[in-house]
Amino acid sequence: MKRNIAVLQGDGIGREVTRGAVEILEAVAQRYGHEFDFQYGDIGGGAIDLTGSPLPDDTVKICQNSDAVLLGAVGGPKWDDQPAHLRPERGLLKIRKDLNLYANIRPISYYSSLSESSPLKKEFIEDVDFVIVRELTGGLYFGKPSERVERDGKEAVVDTLFYQKSEMKRIIELAFAMASNRKKKVTSVDKANVLESSRMWRETAEEVAKDYPDVTLEHMLVDNAAMQLIKNPKQFDIIVTENMFGDILSDEASVLTGSLGMLPSASISAEGPNLYEPIHGSAPDIAGKNLANPIGTILSAASMLRLSFGLEDEAHAVEQAVETVLEYGLRTGDIANGQRDITTTSEMIAEIKASL
Ligand code: NAI
Ligand code: MG
Repeated sequence: MKRNIAVLQGDGIGREVTRGAVEILEAVAQRYGHEFDFQYGDIGGGAIDLTGSPLPDDTVKICQNSDAVLLGAVGGPKWDDQPAHLRPERGLLKIRKDLNLYANIRPISYYSSLSESSPLKKEFIEDVDFVIVRELTGGLYFGKPSERVERDGKEAVVDTLFYQKSEMKRIIELAFAMASNRKKKVTSVDKANVLESSRMWRETAEEVAKDYPDVTLEHMLVDNAAMQLIKNPKQFDIIVTENMFGDILSDEASVLTGSLGMLPSASISAEGPNLYEPIHGSAPDIAGKNLANPIGTILSAASMLRLSFGLEDEAHAVEQAVETVLEYGLRTGDIANGQRDITTTSEMIAEIKASL
């Protein structure tokens, strides 16, 4: 079966790391007898320079006609002084909205070969293996009104936390479905002692749980969750939470296992293709120097194989290949931790491909 993959390289190291992921996907196609067709679209600063828009209509069309989207990263100092509607990040927000990407999935797993890259003690993070499922298109970041107001003659401001119950239900269901294929535990994070929205979230989680009798549901208040992530991260399997809590907790969790350059993410669409991207940005400080770690993007491509195409063996093979080169001692600068022999981006890609 032929699969169409939209590739949005973006800016800075986005170009270098997506090239790596495409090479790995091509190798997978060859080895397992699949056909992947890659269509390239512009996004971010490069797109602004070319077309005047951070997300040209053509790019949206390429994505909508694809089976899955691979994204690098956008942004850079060159575009920092642009007016808001002409900033690269606008392209990113718009593609998430245009593709209705309601869930952001961020796996956090431990690599024994990288234990020295984490600021935390080995015994706390050994065997850490959980996933944060963050709601991505609702809540405080999208609620209206969001504006400066005058109340009782005083300067004031309002942001709105709005969710439809159905928006809560679909992401909590996704979390349970994922947990039932893993360690069968869902931790639903909220602030139900204070927020009405959280009380509805908690109720919804209880309702969904009835359909998954083999999955344990636990509720945790967000402030406690922030502490537990550092204190005892091994307790988690799936964490599901609303947009802002998830934004904060997923960045917190990313430091557990080491470098930004290692971590993949998947954004799940309610109706069309999913989008896969590393969690890091365009890293202008190392862009174009063959120094970027391509692993976060390559692991994002592995998630694409698993979640969009149902190719579990192929996804596993890519993850295994990454693990093998790490055990071998290959290290880009961000995970080198003092090691002097630094692996370049292109070497890392070639070695992962070879180990496939
Ligand atoms: P960043 O993630 O680009 O870089 C932070 C630090 O981590 C830098 O020192 C960088 O060299 C290093 N780093 C990041 N990815 C790496 C990799 N794969 N291999 C090795 N080292 C890596 O974040 P920063 O510097 O705050 O932002 C730079 C630009 O990226 C900004 O314009 C920002 O808006 C944009 N950005 C874009 C994102 C996206 O496209 N999803 C996400 C975050 C930032
Ligand atoms: Mg964030």
